[in-house]
Amino acid sequence: MSTDRTNCGLPRAADAGTPMTVYGWVDRRRDHGGLIFLDVRDHTGILQVVINPDTAPQAHASAHGVRLEYVLRVHGELRLREPRSVNAHRETGEVELYADQCEVLAVAKTPPFPVNEDTDVEEGLRLRHRYLDLRRSRLQRNLRARATFISHLRAVMAEQGFTEIETPMMIRATPEGARDYLVPSRLQHGSFYALPQSPQLYKQICMVAGIDRYFQIARCMRDEDLRADRQPEFTQLDIEMSFVDEEDVAAVLERAIAYAWSVSGFRGAISTPFPRLTWREAMDRYGVDKPDVRFRMELRDLTEALRASGFRVFADVVAGGGVVKGIAVRGGADLTRGDIEGRLTEVVRTFQARGLAYLWRRDDGWQGGIAKFFTTAELAAIGAITGADVGDAVLMVADRPAVVAASLGALRTHIARERSLADPDELAMIWVTEFPMFERDEETGEVAPLHHPFTMLHPDDVDLLETDPLRIRSRAYDIVLNGREIGSGSIRITDPAIQKRVFAAMGIDTETAQRKFGFLLEAFQYGVPPHGGFAAGVERLVMEGLGEENIRDVIAFPKNQQAQEPMTSAPAPVEKAQLVELGLQLAPEPPKG
Ligand code: AMO
Repeated sequence: MSTDRTNCGLPRAADAGTPMTVYGWVDRRRDHGGLIFLDVRDHTGILQVVINPDTAPQAHASAHGVRLEYVLRVHGELRLREPRSVNAHRETGEVELYADQCEVLAVAKTPPFPVNEDTDVEEGLRLRHRYLDLRRSRLQRNLRARATFISHLRAVMAEQGFTEIETPMMIRATPEGARDYLVPSRLQHGSFYALPQSPQLYKQICMVAGIDRYFQIARCMRDEDLRADRQPEFTQLDIEMSFVDEEDVAAVLERAIAYAWSVSGFRGAISTPFPRLTWREAMDRYGVDKPDVRFRMELRDLTEALRASGFRVFADVVAGGGVVKGIAVRGGADLTRGDIEGRLTEVVRTFQARGLAYLWRRDDGWQGGIAKFFTTAELAAIGAITGADVGDAVLMVADRPAVVAASLGALRTHIARERSLADPDELAMIWVTEFPMFERDEETGEVAPLHHPFTMLHPDDVDLLETDPLRIRSRAYDIVLNGREIGSGSIRITDPAIQKRVFAAMGIDTETAQRKFGFLLEAFQYGVPPHGGFAAGVERLVMEGLGEENIRDVIAFPKNQQAQEPMTSAPAPVEKAQLVELGLQLAPEPPKG
């Protein structure tokens, strides 16, 4: 059918006089008395078709009944348009196809939302008719850019000596820390596969297997709460390398990401090497482990300067082992008391801070209700440490270090958004290194790995395993872009003695470790090379590259907020017989809430 096909977006003035056939959807239709004008669209663009009842009566008769989104085959001669009807906004705007044949290949119901315009449409409706949504120009662009990006990632990884290995989708659970999606086994009643949260353990085993440099464009599944940049199914550029340290892993990723970015038509340019920040520095200066470094407004430590201050709230917190930190808001003298005590205090309260203290620095000195509690020297120190000038405001939180970091970090981001401090065109890609090995799980109170239990410890901190595990730094690293985590990785533990001590610090005894990860530990007994790796979220990179805010707009068939796929209505109940075959019985639905 398509051997003689010309794509709608390709004809140009130089092709005038050529006979051609185009296939596509009706984008617009205008009936000008005698002449019918049709815009015909395919994925390459739109071509105007003209049908004259005098010269092509049959084509005219069939074009008469066509409606938006009908599928057509049109044959005719390409002609130059009259100068006055040239459309400068369209690449095919100088020409039109003068039809002698017009065949309707498929009719279409009236679409529930316009396909030919990039208007805002309720997302539920878009997902329900995803084929129409994908037919629209923005998602066409997004899917194609995503495909281009992935193909360049593949090429640049192969060029760097990596072998693509497909790891299984039905596996034993991996330790990424989210809830698993389970698949019941028919042959082994009562047993379940897990869908991979990542190929973590397989890629480490590939290192034992001598693969040396593994990569995969890997699908991962995690049953976790969804957000604008989180889906239950997503894709990673997943890598693992033998005989390497942090520098080798970083060099490979910087090259892969910067190269694929530059040839995929993504916005801006990524410069390498990415600046580095330790986790400690990130927390001290920005209050978060994924700082947006496009703007400064850094957190500054006022604890020592205000230790003996007459402001009781601060003095008491400091005496109790807490800290006082502040940020200087440039031009913040325009913030009113209402702004600060209202919405800005609300932000820090969300992170358990008890309040937000503030001072304005004006022409005639420091102002604000608490200014009177500080000596001139203390006020001068606040100015010097925070860098606040005349016309600025200083916002301060005193509390436990974790609360101060989280609340001021969030406030910093909030104010940057309110005041448009970040340049939307800038791409600030950084490494955050030396993450803590463990954190205390809020729910269970237990010590849990921040990354995963196979992450190598900082060599200087190994001896804290039995005494103070929460202070141990690890050899884990993240890439952060404009305040969003793009990927994570680490150098792994390959020393069985250290691995055993890590499990012990987590309260995992040898027997449990054997049951859960015995296969990995066993593999390691047969000659394991030192290794490390990384996984980057492909959708997050594509979102940033295309300037999209929502991960669903870079995925062909995403899930909605309830993890449903509205077009096919997945998940769906299954036949009783299928459950019986799997040895499953449904329990009554637990009460909601
Ligand atoms: P991690 O769990 O940090 O590390 O995941 C790596 C990256 O994958 C992306 N990502 C997601 N993207 C969309 N939706 C989600 N639900 C989602 N979850 C994660 C993020 C994240 O930074 N196996 C380790 C890597 C390693 O150690 O080599 C891992 O998966 O961009």
